Amino acid sequence: MIDMERFLENKVCIITGAAQGIGKSIAERFASDGALVYACDRAEGAMDEWAEVCSEKYGTRVCPLYFDVTDAVAVKSAFMSVFKQEGRIDVLVNNAGVVFNKKIGMILRPETELMFRVNVIAVIEMVQLVSRLMARGHGGSIVNIASVTAVLGSPGQSAYSATKGAIMAFTKSAAKELASQGIRVNAVAPGIVKTERFSELYEESGEKIDNRIQRIALGRLGTPLDVANACAFLASDRSSYISGQILGVDGCASI
Ligand SMILES: NC(=O)c1ccc[n+]([C@@H]2O[C@H](COP(=O)([O-])OP(=O)(O)OC[C@H]3O[C@@H](n4cnc5c(N)ncnc54)[C@H](O)[C@@H]3O)[C@@H](O)[C@H]2O)c1
Repeated sequence: MIDMERFLENKVCIITGAAQGIGKSIAERFASDGALVYACDRAEGAMDEWAEVCSEKYGTRVCPLYFDVTDAVAVKSAFMSVFKQEGRIDVLVNNAGVVFNKKIGMILRPETELMFRVNVIAVIEMVQLVSRLMARGHGGSIVNIASVTAVLGSPGQSAYSATKGAIMAFTKSAAKELASQGIRVNAVAPGIVKTERFSELYEESGEKIDNRIQRIALGRLGTPLDVANACAFLASDRSSYISGQILGVDGCASI
């Protein structure tokens, strides 16, 4: 009988971009499911206090790790330290991402390049690295965070959407390639999620949020927990026959 409350018990999980927004919620949700969470982000010290509180609250270990996902040397050293410490890595959630909301005529090359480096190239490299480590154990589950904009399109987000479309395509091929090693690869494609970043962007744009909500069939914005719940399912053994899928978490906005 599976414990309904803690279905990631003792799974070693790495989550990138965990200092705020969706990634923080994924880390907390995983900890509440009993996972050993390695919460990764850039700013040294930013997650220390929160990680301690979470560890105590959920009776597990939440360990902060600080590195930039575009720094391949730092990524390798962080992942190897987790592998040496725990003897395995069961789950990687590629959540860290950057967005510049700019029209095609306005976006600058360094902004486009940064989005591709963080949202695509770093993800590919982390999957390369973690899949080698997962293959040494019993396999694992990789969850990439894409976006509904890749499917629906979004004015002012064409370069960003291109990065998320790339992630969807990568997810499908990686899933087929890594299946024989017991590694599943899926993506979650959120719609509009009410995070700190989202609130700031909307305040800046002056667009009425009600207009956006009208286009969401379920009648509300997504929450970070909505996305975290989908990730927890895909990370767990409950989804053991699911790979290569893109799971929309968008309130039925994508159809
Ligand atoms: N918020 C939304 O509406 C929404 C919708 C669809 C998809 N997404 C995707 O979900 C993910 C999380 O979004 P969010 O809204 O929580 O974003 P956010 O900006 O609030 O958080 C992103 C986190 O990633 C970290 N990060 C960025 N670049 C990094 C790097 N180079 N190295 C290490 N860490 C880095 C940041 O420090 C930050 O903590 C992103 O991939 C985003 O594209 C968000």
